[in-house]
Amino acid sequence: MKTSKVHLAAKTGSYDIFIGKNIARELPAQLKTLKIAESIFLISDPKVFGLHGNRLLSALKNAGISNIGTALFGRGEENKSWKNYEKLINNLIDFDFGKKNKITVMALGGGVVGDMAGFIASVYRRGLPFVQVPTTLLSAVDSSIGGKTGIDYERNGKVIKNILGHFYQPRLVCMDTEFLKTLEDKEIKNGLSEIIKYGIIKNSALFYYLKRNLSKALKKDSEILTYLIRESCKIKRNVVQLDEKETKNIRTILNFGHTIGHAIEGASNFRVSHGQAVAIGMICETYMANEMGLIDKASCKEIESVIENTGLPVKTSACGIKDVMHIMKYDKKFQSGKNKFVLPVKIGKVCVKTGIPESMILNSLKNRITKN
Ligand SMILES: NC(=O)c1ccc[n+]([C@@H]2O[C@H](COP(=O)([O-])OP(=O)(O)OC[C@H]3O[C@@H](n4cnc5c(N)ncnc54)[C@H](O)[C@@H]3O)[C@@H](O)[C@H]2O)c1
Repeated sequence: MKTSKVHLAAKTGSYDIFIGKNIARELPAQLKTLKIAESIFLISDPKVFGLHGNRLLSALKNAGISNIGTALFGRGEENKSWKNYEKLINNLIDFDFGKKNKITVMALGGGVVGDMAGFIASVYRRGLPFVQVPTTLLSAVDSSIGGKTGIDYERNGKVIKNILGHFYQPRLVCMDTEFLKTLEDKEIKNGLSEIIKYGIIKNSALFYYLKRNLSKALKKDSEILTYLIRESCKIKRNVVQLDEKETKNIRTILNFGHTIGHAIEGASNFRVSHGQAVAIGMICETYMANEMGLIDKASCKEIESVIENTGLPVKTSACGIKDVMHIMKYDKKFQSGKNKFVLPVKIGKVCVKTGIPESMILNSLKNRITKN
């Protein structure tokens, strides 16, 4: 088992990230050490719970943790909703009332489950201990660490993504690579998109390790995935430790590929997944960097070829350039009307640029966003 510790401000405390094969078996002992094992409210989705719920419940029960409530909600982004939030809060009240035990909220699932469960843990009785058990590659390398929780909200027929949320750190993150074995190929690719991002922003060795071991990673080789997860988590942890609540401009670098990526996700009405949109976003933003003379053409081609060989899209016809540009204007990273992009200067290093001319952004989208 590999451990990585996240040290945050004294007020928030620190927490361990456990990574390895079959480590869910060791989760009960960790909960007991932290004194958060009295009773567990497990939140999951039906697919993940069907595949892995019993293994986790058995591990908890075998360790004498029997006071467990389970609540499931539908899978997919459309279910990270206010409606499901209300339903789960009602389930939690039913589980809670009449008991004296302290409750820990546990998320078993991908980023949708983790974001929802974390948000519930953050508001219920002014905050309950929260444990993340990520089951997708994307949630293992990204959403389960860093403390961003939240849900989407629909207003006037339009869904506003992650508009309700908190920074709320988990007490423990348990990444059991065995969970990843049942993931569909497209979900492995979505996670690899974020790993490619980490390589480009901070660690060229990680980028080239993935390039060399791509076919094994796509086949869910446990050793390769453990290495990729561990190295990615280290990068996210180091950034989050320096800028927990995104107030110091340090966390911004995690948004490489996300400015255009988020806009593509939204403009396509989430038909293009997060990982796919970020892949196209990384390519557009890399070519923008090349046009500004920041990065050489060979590196651009290398980035594009790793993305393409991963099986991620390098263009999309699911949305139009006009819609992408419109959504980008509302990007939360833009300040005082000035746009803000994270751009690579080489594989392993990025810089932040503001006020990029619209013509340059449009140029980068040409041939990549192909719907008229
Ligand atoms: N909080 C953050 O910092 C942060 C960062 C990045 C993304 N996110 C959020 O994460 C969400 C996306 O997360 P995701 O990519 O994990 O998608 P997801 O949670 O929707 O999961 C994808 C699919 O995989 C299935 N699944 C999950 N684990 C499985 C397993 N082990 N075997 C088989 N199927 C499994 C799920 O049922 C679902 O259908 C988005 O809502 C995004 O906003 C949050």
